Amino acid sequence: DLPIAANDIRRIVLVACGTAAYAGMVAKYWLEAWTRLPVEVDIASEFRYRRAPVDAHTLAVVISQSGETADTLAALRYIQDEGGRVAAIVNVPHSTIAREADVVLPTHAGPEIGVASTKAFTCQMAVLAALAAGLGAARGTLDAGAVQEISMALSTLPRRVSQLLADMETLQPIARALAGARDVLFVGRGLYFPIALEGALKLKELSYIHAEGYAAGELKHGPIALIDEDVPVIGLAPTGPLFDKTLPNLEQIKARRGQVYLISDGQASVALSGHFIMPAVDDVTGPFLYTLPAQMIAYATAVEKGTDVDQPRNLAKSVTVE
Ligand code: G6P
Repeated sequence: DLPIAANDIRRIVLVACGTAAYAGMVAKYWLEAWTRLPVEVDIASEFRYRRAPVDAHTLAVVISQSGETADTLAALRYIQDEGGRVAAIVNVPHSTIAREADVVLPTHAGPEIGVASTKAFTCQMAVLAALAAGLGAARGTLDAGAVQEISMALSTLPRRVSQLLADMETLQPIARALAGARDVLFVGRGLYFPIALEGALKLKELSYIHAEGYAAGELKHGPIALIDEDVPVIGLAPTGPLFDKTLPNLEQIKARRGQVYLISDGQASVALSGHFIMPAVDDVTGPFLYTLPAQMIAYATAVEKGTDVDQPRNLAKSVTVE
């Protein structure tokens, strides 16, 4: 049960740090589409120092693998001090955030050892998809057939994830190309914009290569100035309504002599430096399945460079101080 009745919610606020915040960004698309409620996603270190309005009609959700992240915990306490109630999506069951939250939605990802969050991210998305579908059903904004389709799609994931993981060695040529790069851009639209952010974060963390994730439509508003023949761009673009919107962005990169690597089930109109062929996806399975190559590119590139994928320099698994 949520801390607020589904029909009393007027606004949803998701607060987290790092990768967990990207899971929140993916969930924003689902929550808005399926519940028709306004959704805000914020990073905890910013949220906690604003005077963000919270009231009895705000559903606040904090997301944290460790349940110990100082900023996320402070955000939870801020919301409670303002009279709000908080649901927490946490992986570590007896963590501080799990203890202090009004409701806990466990991710059950199992202990996560590597410093960079990977499986916790997909499990956070799974909980958020279930939350969004459940809320949509309770509010009457999602009909029973749609809820059934979402839950069927989620139930295919374990099988589809293991099938796709078996293909990961075909990412090797991309990893080899990236290992020599100084800057890399990841681009995507819609649900794949947060996945682009996740791919870029993982690449930075594991291989120490400067990487940025961008909403593909934003390229022309600045980042395109960075493009030359030395900058690889990874496009995350499944076929679907936004595919034809992303292709022109990749053409613009190509026109500036950038190297384009496509992760997609579709064919590109431009000459590619590499193509990782994906299975067809929908709006439920897509973010999960596209996360695999996004994270595995970082892993393979780090292995190629010889950096420590489990314990990257300067990073801590859990950031319990500000
Ligand atoms: C650290 C980890 C990240 C993680 C972030 C948030 O920076 O290196 O992988 O996403 O903390 O951690 P949390 O435990 O709150 O999800």
